[in-house]
Order: sequence, then structure tokens, then C-alpha cells
Amino acid sequence: MRILMVASECFPLIKTGGLADVVGALPLALETQGADVTVFLPGFPSVLSGLTGKKTIKKLTDVGGGKAKLMSGRTKVGLSVIALDAPHLFKFEGNPYQLESGVDRPDNAIKFAAFSRIAADLASGKFGLKAFDVVHAHDWQAGLVSVYLQATNSEVKAVLTIHNLAFQGLFPKSILTGIGLPDEVFHKDGLEYWDKVSFLKGGVVYSHHVTTVSPSYALEIQSDQGGMGFGGILKSRQKALSGILNGIDLEVWDPETDPAITAPFSADAPEGKAKNKVALQKKMGLRVSKDTPLFCVISRLTTQKGLDLLGDLVDHIVLSGGQLALLGSGDSAIEDKFRAAAEKHPTEVSVQIGYDEPLAHFIQAGSDAIFIPSRFEPCGLTQLCAMRYGTVPIAGRVGGLNDTIIDASPAALAKSAATGLLFFDITPHNLSATIDRAFSLYKAPKIWSQMKQNCLSHPVGWEPSAKDYLNLYAGLLEV
Ligand code: ADP
Ligand code: GLC
Repeated sequence: MRILMVASECFPLIKTGGLADVVGALPLALETQGADVTVFLPGFPSVLSGLTGKKTIKKLTDVGGGKAKLMSGRTKVGLSVIALDAPHLFKFEGNPYQLESGVDRPDNAIKFAAFSRIAADLASGKFGLKAFDVVHAHDWQAGLVSVYLQATNSEVKAVLTIHNLAFQGLFPKSILTGIGLPDEVFHKDGLEYWDKVSFLKGGVVYSHHVTTVSPSYALEIQSDQGGMGFGGILKSRQKALSGILNGIDLEVWDPETDPAITAPFSADAPEGKAKNKVALQKKMGLRVSKDTPLFCVISRLTTQKGLDLLGDLVDHIVLSGGQLALLGSGDSAIEDKFRAAAEKHPTEVSVQIGYDEPLAHFIQAGSDAIFIPSRFEPCGLTQLCAMRYGTVPIAGRVGGLNDTIIDASPAALAKSAATGLLFFDITPHNLSATIDRAFSLYKAPKIWSQMKQNCLSHPVGWEPSAKDYLNLYAGLLEV
């Protein structure tokens, strides 16, 4: 089965969040199970420079108003990639979607429409490559792939995965003529969304199947509250909508071999984790103490992640006898809250504003617990990385967090099954009460150590979900 994966990010070539991790790891897991996968990406500088064995496979004349080339190559781990090398669209550094000011790049619609149009043609076999059986598009940036397939009467089956409904690819309707789509697609059962064009809606409406990244989120997004305006649209596609959990790459995240951490450890030999805790306290300027509960955050600092609430509870954590190590960036008000907390408690709170992949591994390895108090969370990968590194997640009971963490309820504790702490509704009071619950559990060393052990042995790889995707593709090809 030939699959074309279409996305704007792919770890390690270009990453702003979990989408990249998924697109970097899922294809490898699909290949292990026999599929033949190519990833199609925008030719950002880091994408082009990260590919080995690059070859031009096709020169193109009019792609979003300029010349472009299709380049093939492989990533370090052997993933087959085709990149759209279109300097007028993708040759810039920094965030792929936003200017430094935080404002969306003004030509996002042109860029990602052109990218999706070429993806559709590539999938249909227009550039001399054999056609693909299935094109699997991710998020709004690839939302128009199925729309262009439909517009060209292609027979390729299209799957769309929604990683985060908060990003809907909304643009003024005036862009339609510039992206080569007929006015006929601008109606309420097409791309029209409150008099604007939504690239994500295009994908939802025209794809043969829509997935999202956890079963709980698949249900939540069909409601008015969780649907963020798309509840009705998604409910109308209920029969072609499912949730398939993300996994993580077990080689990238492996505490036995991770070069970014201080001492190796595993479920069979967990002792090494303690050395990583001391190393983390030293590296981040925290008071060294093996008995002090060390909490961490590794995240985009946004209201989605509930970190505005946590920012108000740092004093509470410190007064209760805990430490906090934070790595993240995002909303300046949230950044400021944590910076101020670190200034106030210099030996107990350490804050690193920025994005740092090796430091993320180092913090996961050294922490006792991680906060993910998300208001909504399509899947979440940090709790999976945390569990793999024996770090107990403390999380909102939403989306994929609900599907991957077993709360330390009396029943779960009695069965020695708990892997974390979950709470619902995401309010300051409930978060504060959950922090207190974490302290009580930490003070019961046998219980805490069992939870840590449960995390270390919890399966977080891609294998079962890759199988689900393959079954989904196979089902579409039978129709
Ligand atoms: P989202 O995609 O919504 O941001 P996920 O939990 O799915 O959340 O994925 C986040 C990914 O980004 C994880 O791999 C996490 O380790 C990583 N990450 C988040 N913030 C940072 C940061 N500041 N530095 C390094 N890695 C980060
Ligand atoms: C999005 C979601 C996150 C999910 C990731 C990968 O960024 O916010 O929950 O894990 O995509 O699917």
C-alpha cells in the first residue's frame, strides 16, 4: 500500500509541536507493518538541508506565483520525503506560520493552498511518479488536499487527521480565486465558515475519512463546547470520524540510550533516575535534595495548556515543599508569571523560556512529576514521554490525557494500576486540590514508587495505532 503523508511539520526537520513528532514517527511505524510511505513537506530551509541524497524529481512553473521544484530525499533515519522547494513561499527562518510579532504570516493561504494543490497532484500520479493509494493529510495546512482531489476528479482516497481544532485555517473569501478553486466550493456544505474560507473545514467535508488523535477528543469535538464552532459539521460526519491515539518514537525517547540525559534507566533498572534528578537540580540552579518532590512543565505556554492557572499556584507548590522546573514559551503574560515566580523562589523554581529539545529530555529524566493541566488536549505527547521516563503526569481529564493516564483513584491504587493524577473541571481550586493530592501520594514512598514503575512499563509506542491506521486505509480501498 502506497501512502502519501502530507503535513507542514516533521521531526526532526521542522517542529513547533506534537504534529511534527507524529509525522516523524507514524510513517516509520507504518513501514514496519509493511506500508510504503512518503512524506510530503514544504521546502523550509531546515527541511531541505536536513535531507540526504537529494534529487530534483520535477520542475514546476506556477506554484503560488513562482517557480518550484519537487525534491526527493531521506531523513537520517531513512524516511522517504518529497519537499516542495518554492523559495518565494518557504525560504525563511523562524516560526512557519507566524511572524516574530506573533501575527499570522500574510501569505499563509497562498502558501498552504499551493502546497496542498501540489500534494493532490503528486498523490494522483501527475508528476511521473506512480499514484498513491491513500493520501493522509494533517491539520488545516493540508486541509485543501481533498478539495483539490475532488476538483480534479481524482480517485485517490483521502484521510484528514485533526491534531487541534483550535487552528482552523480561516481566511477571507476573496482568497478563493487566487488559489484556483471555483466559487462553487464556497457554500455551507463546502469551505464556507461564517462567510470566511476554512481550509480545515474543506478537509473535514471532502476527505473520505477524518480522524483525530484520541477517542475522547473524537467525542468532545462533536459537541458545541468542544467543537469550537465545528461541532455540527463534525457530527454530520460522525460515521466517517474516529479517534486513533498517538504514540511516541521509542528510539527518540529511550531512557536506556538517551544521549541527552545523565544516567540511563529503564523499567527493569529504574535506579538511574535518581542521578538524573540531582543533575537536573544542579543544571537548573535548584537546591539539591533527593527527597524534595520535583515537578516540571515542558510545554507551549498557552491557555489551552492551563498554565495560566498553574502560574498562580507556584507559591502554593513551594510552600508545600516542592520544586518546579519549567521549559516553555508562548503567551507573554504566562511567561512573565513564571519568570516572576523564579525570581521570588530562586532555589526552588527554575524557568527556562525557549525551545530546547535536549533539555526537554533532561527535564523528563530528572523530574518526579509533570504538570499538564490542559483545558483541552487532542492527544498530548508530553505525558507519553513522561511515562516512558518514569515521570508521573498530573493532568486535566480531557482528550488524550483521559485516554492515556490512569488516575490514582482508590480502585486503581488498590490494583497497583495508577500512572498519574487526573482532575476535572480545570479550575484553580481543582488544580490546587490535585497538587495537594500529589504531595500526599509522594509522601507514601511505596505508592509513589509503584506509580513511577507503572509509568515506566506503560506501553506508549506506535504499534497498535499504526495497525489501526492501516486497517482504516485498507477499509477505504475496499469501497
Ligand atoms: P502540542 O503539540 O499541543 O504542543 P504535545 O504534547 O502533543 O503538545 O507535543 C508537544 C511536543 O513538543 C513534545 O514533543 C514536547 O516535548 C515538545 N515541547 C513542547 N515545548 C517544548 C520546549 N519548550 N522545548 C522542547 N520541546 C518542547
Ligand atoms: C496538537 C495537540 C496535541 C497533540 C498533537 C499531535 O498539537 O495540541 O494534543 O498531541 O497535536 O497530535
